[in-house]
Amino acid sequence: MATIKIGILGAAGRMGQMLVREVAAGQGIALAGAADMAGHAAIGKDAGQLAGLSPLGVVITQDVATLFATSDVVIDFTLPAATAAHVKRAAETKTPIVIGTTGLGPAETKAITEAAASVAIVQAPNMSLAVNLLLALTRKAASVFDDSYDVAISEMHHRHKVDAPSGTALALRDAVETGGRKRDEITMTAIRAGDLAGEHSVFFIGEGEQLALTHEATSRSVFARGAVHAARWVLNQPPGRYGMQDVLGLD
Ligand SMILES: NC(=O)c1ccc[n+]([C@@H]2O[C@H](COP(=O)([O-])OP(=O)(O)OC[C@H]3O[C@@H](n4cnc5c(N)ncnc54)[C@H](O)[C@@H]3O)[C@@H](O)[C@H]2O)c1
Repeated sequence: MATIKIGILGAAGRMGQMLVREVAAGQGIALAGAADMAGHAAIGKDAGQLAGLSPLGVVITQDVATLFATSDVVIDFTLPAATAAHVKRAAETKTPIVIGTTGLGPAETKAITEAAASVAIVQAPNMSLAVNLLLALTRKAASVFDDSYDVAISEMHHRHKVDAPSGTALALRDAVETGGRKRDEITMTAIRAGDLAGEHSVFFIGEGEQLALTHEATSRSVFARGAVHAARWVLNQPPGRYGMQDVLGLD
């Protein structure tokens, strides 16, 4: 089978470097291109070296057009405005794309939906297997506990994380609502501190008992692994918008 050529957008970022390491170590996949924001200090550097590996011969560029032209599939962990521009390019070049960027607003969501008419897109605020199972378990629990049980969602992340509540916390809230509880019954708490990779909990608290469903990420590599898994999967999908539930066959 031919090697799958993967392009990484945001290659100089925390997740981008993690993705470079994951792609370099993967079987049957290769880094086809690495791009970051125009003017970023990492432009012109070897993507492997920046990620702490031996040189991979792939230089970080600001040339997003060439990255799309030379990749079978692209992974985007950047910023919402950048993601909106990238999905338009994905639709033009018919290059499937995996989006991990969070904090997407209505404009970015609309851009993704429009692009998904002509190309396959996986977008998920959290690419970890266990978190996606947590979403399914949360839906189930919310459908069982009536309003005599209070619902609270708490999350903790490193101090550099821009969006709060996290995309995953919002997805957990959606899961609780899908299970039949009302949004105004759900308490949300977000803590930004230190270098925490990410912790999410959903509590169902009644009189005399509580159920706590907790996921703790101890390394950001789980998100990179999930994104690469999604990239392999999305290559063979018809145009459309998919989530990790589809990739992992959950639900
Ligand atoms: N879905 C998941 O599983 C998951 C997991 C972790 C982080 N995230 C999200 O991924 C995003 C990135 O997180 P991070 O910690 O790597 O952030 P980061 O700030 O370290 O990296 C983002 C990178 O994107 C680059 N960038 C900005 N605009 C660009 C553009 N127009 N073209 C190319 N590159 C551009 C930045 O220069 C930076 O290098 C955030 O939204 C974060 O919440 C998602």
